[in-house]
Amino acid sequence: MLIDLIGVPLDLGAGRRGVDMGPSAIRYAGLRSQLEELGHTVIDRGNLTASIAETLPVGDLTLRYFEPIRDTLIQLASEVDQSCSQGHVPVVLGGDHSLGLGSVSGAAHNRDIGVLWIDAHGDFNIPSTSPSGNIHGMPLAALCGYGDERLIHLSGQRLANSMINPHRVALVAVRDLDPEERQLLTEAGVQVFATEYIDRYGMYETMVRAISVANQARDGFYVSFDLDVLDPAVAPGVGTPVPGGLTYREAHLAAELIAESGRMIGLDIVEVNPILDDRNRTATVAVEIALSTLGKRVWHKQHPRTAL
Ligand code: ARG
Ligand code: MN
Ligand code: MN
Ligand code: MN
Repeated sequence: MLIDLIGVPLDLGAGRRGVDMGPSAIRYAGLRSQLEELGHTVIDRGNLTASIAETLPVGDLTLRYFEPIRDTLIQLASEVDQSCSQGHVPVVLGGDHSLGLGSVSGAAHNRDIGVLWIDAHGDFNIPSTSPSGNIHGMPLAALCGYGDERLIHLSGQRLANSMINPHRVALVAVRDLDPEERQLLTEAGVQVFATEYIDRYGMYETMVRAISVANQARDGFYVSFDLDVLDPAVAPGVGTPVPGGLTYREAHLAAELIAESGRMIGLDIVEVNPILDDRNRTATVAVEIALSTLGKRVWHKQHPRTAL
């Protein structure tokens, strides 16, 4: 595989500072060299430019830092679109999860794709339902056409053909939804595989179903992986930790099943916050998950084909 690494040092979408250092932490944990050991060709495209909170006005408190975030997301969408057009696999290093609006829009530009959003949160708020005004709680809604027009049409025409069909979106391991966000998810028809679903049916069954939802789209699916989906004991370096998250093994199983499907067209690794981390543990786990998603196995390269 040809993999493009794209760093997005953005923390304006989050309530806590520090995820802007995520791309460095993930690179430092050895992503590139380990991908190369797996046999991939890796092109590190460096970091996009992102503004710094101290230099900016917050702007509209229901859509905090919208303008500088938009500027970064437009760059990101275009990089991801290009990467996909060349037949490469973009791997986006975050950065707060507002970037998912840029990456997925880029991947969806003139392509019919599904989305696996693997996250403790729904990220399905709109300004009027958001308790925080933080844009990292809104990207999935905007991708599905809900919320502020300025978010939905990031740059007018450019992303006009990038809408995601909510019926091709699976939200995996979610366990913290705001009340009206829950309503909006239901209304949109997103398939929600909450943690209680995983408790009952197990991670294997959950992922087989989630993948089959996202996989209905003609051109494959994009995976947006928020590190806070993991249990805070495994991934402490995140700004919005929620108890009861995925174990290390469950996360790897999810990643391996994604790899086996052969249909992932791009990957986000987001919300790694080195300031809150314990000796770069969260970035290290992020790298391990990225590797499993991109084909790393302990033993078999490919298990006997499962019913995906
Ligand atoms: N639901 C909360 C909000 O809208 C938290 C969102 C957390 N999102 C994230 N990408 N970590 O503010
Ligand atoms: Mn998120
Ligand atoms: Mn989250
Ligand atoms: Mn919440």
